Amino acid sequence: MAYDPLVIRKDFPIFDRSIRDGKRLVYLDSGATSQKPAVVIDAESNFYRKHNAAAHRGAHQLAEEATEAIESAREVVANFLSGTVDEIVFTKHSTEALNLLAYSIGNSPVGNKFHLKAGDEIVVSEMEHHANLIPWQELAKRTGAVLKWFEVNPDGRLDLSNIDSVVTSRTKIVALTHQSNVLGTINPLAQLVKRTHDVGAIFILDACQSVPHMPVNVAALDIDFLVFSGHKAVGPTGVGVLWGRASLLAELPPFLFGGSMIESVTMTDATWASAPRKFEPGVPNMAQIVGLGTALNYLTDIGIQEIHNHEINITSYAISKLQEINELRIVGPTDMNLRGGAVSFTLGEIHPHDLGQFLDNSGVAVRTGHHCAWPLTRKMGVAATTRASFYLYNTLDDIDVLVDAVSDAQKYFA
Ligand code: ALA
Repeated sequence: MAYDPLVIRKDFPIFDRSIRDGKRLVYLDSGATSQKPAVVIDAESNFYRKHNAAAHRGAHQLAEEATEAIESAREVVANFLSGTVDEIVFTKHSTEALNLLAYSIGNSPVGNKFHLKAGDEIVVSEMEHHANLIPWQELAKRTGAVLKWFEVNPDGRLDLSNIDSVVTSRTKIVALTHQSNVLGTINPLAQLVKRTHDVGAIFILDACQSVPHMPVNVAALDIDFLVFSGHKAVGPTGVGVLWGRASLLAELPPFLFGGSMIESVTMTDATWASAPRKFEPGVPNMAQIVGLGTALNYLTDIGIQEIHNHEINITSYAISKLQEINELRIVGPTDMNLRGGAVSFTLGEIHPHDLGQFLDNSGVAVRTGHHCAWPLTRKMGVAATTRASFYLYNTLDDIDVLVDAVSDAQKYFA
């Protein structure tokens, strides 16, 4: 069946409501969080209504069902990424997953593969969300490691001209975003992963803006770790995913300690369960994990490649229409071969916060500001941008409403 966002929208109850005195909701903020289809909302609610019990604990039927429900979801996530179930760790969100990595690496003793010493190097880029920057800044401070980074070109792409001097034999970790949440740039991973492995370092991918939007196959990418958030992938808030190569998760020490992550405990010491359990102390966010499994099945049923193709179509349309507006500057690449569906722009001297408010009055929801990537907006020479980000339920009509509202704002603020 041909891809039809109007049919898809019917699955999302939020599109039944209107906004700002009866206006149609034009939701262009899926880069921040996606809307949820009824099947996901129902899956969460159904878990509480019928199966609620503490998974992996308890000798009763409900505990068994709760365990079965989250382990099935783990299988769904593993299949979605082309990984295996023992490689999927559930966290509260991708920010926690990145902090898990940074703290676990920081906990690695001398002799462990992950041990960091003064002078070792961690590589990030100017394009990172704060969640994939600050944990590494802090790890560098705690260990004496040196933080290095790839710069961003004026056209919004990573400058890889000096890749061999940024990633060197001293590099232990390279942590980069797959797709920029601000610029929409998709990074050329093959070259970066190859260089990382050539020097014996590990490659960590922040896939928050890619996993919900395009096929991502961890085996084909040959990466070592990946994180993404459920709530950007039509799933619930409160659940994120860390994927790691099984051999690496086996060597990585845990970060949070407590119930259900142990093998044995005495009054003075403890040993750990194998991965993924050693990284999942505490009763998990079970209803959210179940909701995430349903969300990924929903995306798979529609087809993640079809969703990607749809986003490319509407983004390309949006860029061409926005570029017709005088004084509008797209911040990021305009070549569709280099980008995905998040489009940041400035409009003359109009402050993005004022523009955002104007658009909101027209029923258009966008994000404004530095988008938790302050060094990047600074590098691009802007204090803030307005960002429209697209997903499976957006239509060409949504883009027309956006473009008309931006043109109206220009007249209003003239
Ligand atoms: N990281 C999310 C965004 O880019 C919240 O808006």
